[in-house]
Order: sequence, then C-alpha cells, then structure tokens
Amino acid sequence: MEKTIKFPVIDLSKLNGKERDQTMALIEDACQNWGFFELVNHGLPYDLMDNIERMTKEHYKKHMEQKFKEMLRSKGLDTLETEVEDVDWESTFYLRHLPQSNLYDIPDMSNEYRLAMKDFGKMVENLAEELLDLLCENLGLEKGYLKKVFHGTKGPTFGTKVSNYPPCPKPEMIKGLRAHTDAGGLILLFQDDKVSGLQLLKDGDWVDVPPLKHSIVINLGDQLEVITNGKYKSVMHRVMTQKEGNRMSIASFYNPGSDAEISPATSLVDKDSKYPSFVFDDYMKLYAGLKFQPKEPRFEAMKNAEVAADLNPVAAVETF
Ligand code: OGA
Ligand code: NI
Repeated sequence: MEKTIKFPVIDLSKLNGKERDQTMALIEDACQNWGFFELVNHGLPYDLMDNIERMTKEHYKKHMEQKFKEMLRSKGLDTLETEVEDVDWESTFYLRHLPQSNLYDIPDMSNEYRLAMKDFGKMVENLAEELLDLLCENLGLEKGYLKKVFHGTKGPTFGTKVSNYPPCPKPEMIKGLRAHTDAGGLILLFQDDKVSGLQLLKDGDWVDVPPLKHSIVINLGDQLEVITNGKYKSVMHRVMTQKEGNRMSIASFYNPGSDAEISPATSLVDKDSKYPSFVFDDYMKLYAGLKFQPKEPRFEAMKNAEVAADLNPVAAVETF
C-alpha cells in the first residue's frame, strides 16, 4: 500500500472560531506524532517577513558569501570527491535576544536590518509563549506552566540563527545540516518559500517539510520531550543541500534559561519516569559535544551527572 504522508499545516486563526477544538486536536496530534507542524495565519506581519527575507539575502551576498567560499577552500570542500560527514554546508550567524540582546554586537548589519530583526524577534517570542500555553492546554497543565519552567531566575534564553544554505555542486556528498534533534524548547522557523531542503524523520522515513510562503514551521526540542515525559517528541531533522538556489532559514529558539530546572511534569508521570531531571545549562554542555547523535544517550547520561561529565569532550559553545 502506498503511504500517504500529510505534513500537518495548522491555521492558527481558527483558534478564534468554531473550529477551535479541531485545531487544538491537530496541534496535539502533530506534537505527539510528528514533533513538527507548519503554522499559517499566525499573526506575524507578512511585510515584515518579506523585508527580513530580502535583507537576509542581501546581507548574505554582501557580507557572508565570500567568507563561505573561503571556508570551503580552507576546509578542502571545493572538490567534494568523497562524502563529508563532519562539516555542514551552511553559512550562519547568531542573534541573541534574551536574556540580553547582542543585536548591536553583530558586525555588518544595516540599521534597518537590525531593527527589523528586533521587531521580528519580539513578535516570534510572543508567538512562542502563545504556543506554549496552547501546549499546556492540550497537556492539561495549568496556563503558564511551561513558561514558568523555562523562566529559571533570569527568564528564557531566546535567540535566532540566521542561515543560508548555498547551492552545492555535489549534494550527495554533504548535508546542509547533519541530522540532529534540537536541544531546547520550541523552535520557530521562517524558511525560504522556494528552495526546499528541510526533512524530518517520521517512522523511519525522511519526509520533506514543504516550503509554504509566509508560514512558520514549529518543532519541539529535547526539553519539551523531557517535560512532557515523552508524550511529545523531539524529532530528528536535517537539511539537504541543493544544486540550485540559496536556501534561507531563520530559526528562532525559545529555550529555558540557563539555570532553569527541567524535569517531567508530575501530572504526566505515572510511576517512575524514564526521563532525567537536570539544570538546563548542564544539558547544553553535554549537547555541545553530542549534537549529531541520538537524544536517548543524552537523556541517559543526564541521569548521572558524573557520566555526563565524562561524555562531554567539548567546551560549551554558543549553540541553541
Ligand atoms: C537548526 C535547524 C533547520 C533549517 O538550526 O537546528 O534544524 O532549516 N535548522 O535551517
Ligand atoms: Ni534543528
């Protein structure tokens, strides 16, 4: 039998009408069975999205493309004669919004681009918090529960990774971004509406996350799997390279604060949980060295802080 796979697309405006229950059920199904969904009518202004897309592409051409090409040369990636498994074919920079913004420390951004990113960041932050409450409602947790867990003493960590995946002459030799699950909480992705590449692993098959103009792709990170005691899934995903076209992606990560204490919500645990409890920063230190490996050994390692220290060969770097 042919498999029909329908990637979940959720119309957020329907939460205000008679289709609310149905929409909440779609979100629940996506969180449990996909770890991903795509939002339309999410309330982010389309003109702001268009401006950001334009400026991100201009910024890449003007300030990043040359550096990317030099990186290819210095790493010997200009020939790609054999498969490369330890580098990603991407050009990125990171903006942190919370707990402290670094927006004015990033070089080479125009004032207009900076201000647009600041507005966009604030709106995406609000959308993330709105979504966390929808998840609470579906999970039977009190409103504000997830936001409170993520808060720690300094509020959430919230940042944006701006990426370009330039065309690649031999896509079969290298990934745009190797398969991984995301470490944090909720990820909100504004992706190129023409050039595809993002795939998620569903029941053993890689499934495309289709480009859809003005949509926002949502996925759940490891922390939400832990807090929901595995009810919701943090799912493996990757970016494929393409021969044609430069794929833009702007991924915003709404994560717990560094000292937030993460554990499965008591109301979602029957007896013993197979998930660990820990301080978020300790998880991130472990993740920094094990990002491109399955999440299960990370969860196992966090059950025992000493093991976690042994498994952590790499110093923490800025990663979301
Ligand atoms: C990531 C990620 C996907 C993309 O940065 O963790 O999965 O499309 N990005 O850029
Ligand atoms: Ni990711």
